[in-house]
Amino acid sequence: MVAVVRVHKVGGPDVLTYEEIEIAAPGQGQIRVKQYACGVNFIDVYFRMGLYPSPVGLPFVAGNEGAGEVVAVGPGVTDFRIGDRVGYVAALGCYAAERLVPADRAVKLPASIGYEQAAGMMLKGLTVEYLVRRTFKVEKGMNVFVHAAAGGVGLILCQWANHLGANVIGTVGSKEKAALAKANGCHHTILYRDEDFVARTKEITGGKMCAVVYDGIGKTTFPASLDCLAPLGMFVSFGSASGQIDAFNINILQQKGSLFATRPTLNTYAAKRADLLDMANNLFEVVESGAVKIPVNQKYSLRDAAKAHRDLEGRATTGSSILIP
Ligand SMILES: NC(=O)c1ccc[n+]([C@@H]2O[C@H](COP(=O)([O-])OP(=O)(O)OC[C@H]3O[C@@H](n4cnc5c(N)ncnc54)[C@H](OP(=O)(O)O)[C@@H]3O)[C@@H](O)[C@H]2O)c1
Repeated sequence: MVAVVRVHKVGGPDVLTYEEIEIAAPGQGQIRVKQYACGVNFIDVYFRMGLYPSPVGLPFVAGNEGAGEVVAVGPGVTDFRIGDRVGYVAALGCYAAERLVPADRAVKLPASIGYEQAAGMMLKGLTVEYLVRRTFKVEKGMNVFVHAAAGGVGLILCQWANHLGANVIGTVGSKEKAALAKANGCHHTILYRDEDFVARTKEITGGKMCAVVYDGIGKTTFPASLDCLAPLGMFVSFGSASGQIDAFNINILQQKGSLFATRPTLNTYAAKRADLLDMANNLFEVVESGAVKIPVNQKYSLRDAAKAHRDLEGRATTGSSILIP
C-alpha cells in the first residue's frame, strides 16, 4: 500500500484526503517512481476545485509535479533504468509516496540538483523557460512586468528575466514579499494592494511602459495589466489565481496600442519530448550556473496537503512549496 492524497469530490482544501491505495506494476511506457518530494502549484487548486476537470474522473490523486527515484521500469521503456533520479510534470497523481509516471514525461536530474529543489522547479521553472524564451523572447534592456513577483513562478521569473538583462518590475502583496522579490532579481516592486500599479509603472519607466506583462493573477488585474504595456507589447495571461478573466472585446487590444495577447500553458510548449528535454536542459543550465536559484520556502508533510493549499490560496506563501511523503 502507498500513501497518497486523493480528491473524492471537488471543493475546498478539506477535500484533500490522506489515505493508502495499491499502485499497479508499471505498464507499457511507464516507470514507477519512489517520490522524495512533490511540488505544490496553483494548478493543483484548479483541479481540486473542479475549475479544471480531472482527466481521470473521481477520485483522483492530486498533484502535477514531483521528483524521485525509478524503482521499476515497464515494457518499452528504454531511456530509464532502476536507480535513475528523475523529475517530471504530469497531469495528476503526484501527491503520493510512489506512483506510475509516463516515461516520456520524465527527465533525468543532474547530480547537482536535489529532489526537493527539483520538485520545487520542474513545473514552475519549465513554465518560466517557455515564458521568457518562447512565448516572448526577453532581451537586454527591456522593461518586463511580473505580477505576484514573490510567488513560485514569480521568483524564478524575476531571476531569469534579470539574468537576460531586462529591467524587472514586479507586483507583490506585502513589504516582506517586496524585499524577497528584490533579493531575487526584481529591480522595482509595487505593492499592488495599496498602489495603482499602472501609475507606478509609468513613473518607473519614465512613461515608456513595458514590452511584456506576465499575468498569473487574472480577474483582479485585468484589464489594468494591458495599460502597463508599450505599443505593440505582449500580454501573457498565464494563470488565474484570483479567478478567470471574463470574455472581452478584442478591439480593446487595438485601442490600447495594437497589443498582442496570449493564454499559454506548459502542456502545449512541452508536448513534444524533444521540446521538453530542450526546455529542461535550459532550466538546469541556469540553475547549475547559479543564475537562477529555486527558493523552496515551504515544506509540509504529505498528510498536510490541505494546509499547503490553504496557505497558497491565502497568499501566505513565497517561492515554491513542496510536500514530503
Ligand atoms: N500556464 C502555465 O503554464 C502555468 C504554469 C504554472 C503556473 N501557472 C500560473 O501561475 C500563477 C502562479 O502560480 P504559482 O503556483 O507560482 O502560485 P504563487 O504565485 O506562488 O501564488 C499565487 C500568488 O498570487 C497572488 N495573488 C493575487 N491575488 C490572489 C488571489 N485572489 N488569491 C490567491 N493568490 C493571489 C499572491 O501573491 P501576492 O500576495 O504577492 O499578491 C499569491 O501568493 C498561477 O496563476 C498559476 O495558475 C501557469
